Amino acid sequence: MAKGLCVILCRQSGNMGFVRCSWQPLKFTMLIVSSLLLLLFGAINIHCSTAPQNSTDMLSLLQFKQAITSDPREVLKSWNSSVDHCQWIGVSCSSRRHPRRVTTLNLTGQNLEGQISPSLGNLTFLVYLILSSNSIFGHFPALNRLRRLQAIDLRNNKLQEFAPDALTNTSKLIYLDLSANLLAGPISKNIGFLSSLRVLILKGNMFTGIIPSTLQNITQLGQLDLSDNKLEGTIPEELGEGQLSLIKLNLGNNVLSGRVPTSIFNRSSLVVLGLYSDFLYMELPSNIGNTLPMLSQLMLYKNTFQGPIPASLGNASLLSAIDLTSNNFTGQVPSSLGRLLLLTFLKLEKNSLEANDSKSWEFLDALSNCSSLQLLSLSDNQLQGPIPNSIGKLSAGFEFLGLTRNNLWGPVPASMGNLTRLLILTLDKNNLTGPIGPWVRNMQNLGGLDLSENSFTGAIPS
Ligand SMILES: *[C@@H]1O[C@H](CO)[C@@H](O)[C@H](O)[C@H]1NC(C)=O
Ligand SMILES: *[C@@H]1O[C@H](CO)[C@@H](O)[C@H](O)[C@H]1NC(C)=O
Ligand SMILES: *[C@@H]1O[C@H](CO)[C@@H](O)[C@H](O)[C@H]1NC(C)=O
Ligand SMILES: *[C@@H]1O[C@H](CO)[C@@H](O)[C@H](O)[C@H]1NC(C)=O
Ligand SMILES: *[C@@H]1O[C@H](CO)[C@@H](O)[C@H](O)[C@H]1NC(C)=O
Ligand SMILES: *[C@@H]1O[C@H](CO)[C@@H](O)[C@H](O)[C@H]1NC(C)=O
Ligand SMILES: *[C@@H]1O[C@H](CO)[C@@H](O)[C@H](O)[C@H]1NC(C)=O
Ligand SMILES: *[C@@H]1O[C@H](CO)[C@@H](O)[C@H](O)[C@H]1NC(C)=O
Ligand SMILES: *[C@@H]1O[C@H](CO)[C@@H](O)[C@H](O)[C@H]1NC(C)=O
Repeated sequence: MAKGLCVILCRQSGNMGFVRCSWQPLKFTMLIVSSLLLLLFGAINIHCSTAPQNSTDMLSLLQFKQAITSDPREVLKSWNSSVDHCQWIGVSCSSRRHPRRVTTLNLTGQNLEGQISPSLGNLTFLVYLILSSNSIFGHFPALNRLRRLQAIDLRNNKLQEFAPDALTNTSKLIYLDLSANLLAGPISKNIGFLSSLRVLILKGNMFTGIIPSTLQNITQLGQLDLSDNKLEGTIPEELGEGQLSLIKLNLGNNVLSGRVPTSIFNRSSLVVLGLYSDFLYMELPSNIGNTLPMLSQLMLYKNTFQGPIPASLGNASLLSAIDLTSNNFTGQVPSSLGRLLLLTFLKLEKNSLEANDSKSWEFLDALSNCSSLQLLSLSDNQLQGPIPNSIGKLSAGFEFLGLTRNNLWGPVPASMGNLTRLLILTLDKNNLTGPIGPWVRNMQNLGGLDLSENSFTGAIPS
């Protein structure tokens, strides 16, 4: 009956020619009078007469507000019926449609605590749902009627449940970020119905079970981040086959095991590949650097990859960060890495890499071409012999050198003193000898120096 006491007030807004309408409570008599006036003066607009304002949106939002139990910044104070709901903080409406419908709900970082009311499922014109960085808990409601939804960002909350079919009909969804919540259980295979997704970020939850092969269905997926969960089993072969435009793939810090499907190393669009801290076991394909020409970050640390570091990586000319720490790589460090002019970060520690003659140490000379190199860690390998003079040719901005626990012997070359920007230098647990040269005085920024467990003589020059 409330509707009977309302009339739509419409006004021509600006020079755009749009008509804005809003419900206003009026006395019943006023309603008749004003309707008559409108008719008499022919001022009634077609939009207004035929389409009464749909207040479902406002009611949905008020129900949403009710389920929020703590609002320390009082952002929802403005959410009251004396203000047009399209003016409420965090709410935006379409400007063209009559009646105006809610298209965006954006309450990011407002410290809201509470649950998401199922009434959100009535905001049938919603396009963007942004509730990231709050303390929203409980379960994510079914939003099956929200066919226009394109983006959901709920990262950094405390959601515990995400019903597998909550989004079954939201097939226009492009962006889904549920990272850093408390979601558990398997990732539903129904995820494959979200066939328009470009970005899917589920990192930092407690998802278990296998990676659903239905992800193959999401052919336009550009970013897939399932890291920091408890996913197990092997990486499905289909993963690399479906996503023709996959740019960023992060499956790190799970319990994944077995071989990485070759289809993934064949996904030529990949820029970031994160497969760290899993239980993956295989040799890297020798042509990896040729099949992944766009690769910028290769993060494979803490697995049991074995065999040689492929020389072809030197062909992936955009590589800037390589971390192969804690694997079982063998053989020599390929000199071809010296062709990576953007390389800033090369971490090869805790492997079984060897160097014992000038040929196998050549890589160090080659790395002097990498003028952006800041970090080189070769600790815990099987490098033998004196540290080559070429160490002093590393980039001018070089900051971190780790050579701990190898088989290095002889004096440290004076050229070490060229690395004047070094912040951290670890040479401990080798067999280095002789006095500690004046090179150490050149390193004005040195914050960490470990020379222990060697056979140095004399004191550190001051
Ligand atoms: C609002 O519009 C939706 C469809 O867009 C309809 O299902 C609903 O009944 C309408 N509600 C009101 C109060 O007019
Ligand atoms: C409704 O919100 C407006 C804007 O924040 C505020 O000025 C007004 O006092 C509120 N009205 C009520 C009844 O809370
Ligand atoms: C959401 O709001 C925040 C600040 O309130 C803003 O920085 C951000 O761009 C908004 N996001 C969207 C998608 O509108
Ligand atoms: C909105 O959704 C809730 C829960 O789905 C439902 O109970 C309620 O009737 C709906 N309200 C309107 C105004 O459509
Ligand atoms: C999805 O939409 C179809 C067609 O409108 C409907 O029959 C079906 O029940 C919806 N699915 C869910 C899970 O709501
Ligand atoms: C794959 O996507 C199509 C729509 O593109 C849909 O009809 C089909 O049910 C989806 N299959 C799975 C397994 O998700
Ligand atoms: C790699 O991709 C090429 C072309 O993109 C294709 O011909 C080849 O069969 C693929 N190899 C594997 C192992 O998927
Ligand atoms: C690097 O690329 C060149 C040119 O495509 C090719 O001839 C060479 O074999 C590649 N190197 C390796 C180690 O695959
Ligand atoms: C590393 O590889 C070597 C030779 O293939 C093998 O003997 C050794 O057991 C492996 N170590 C680990 C920790 O897998």
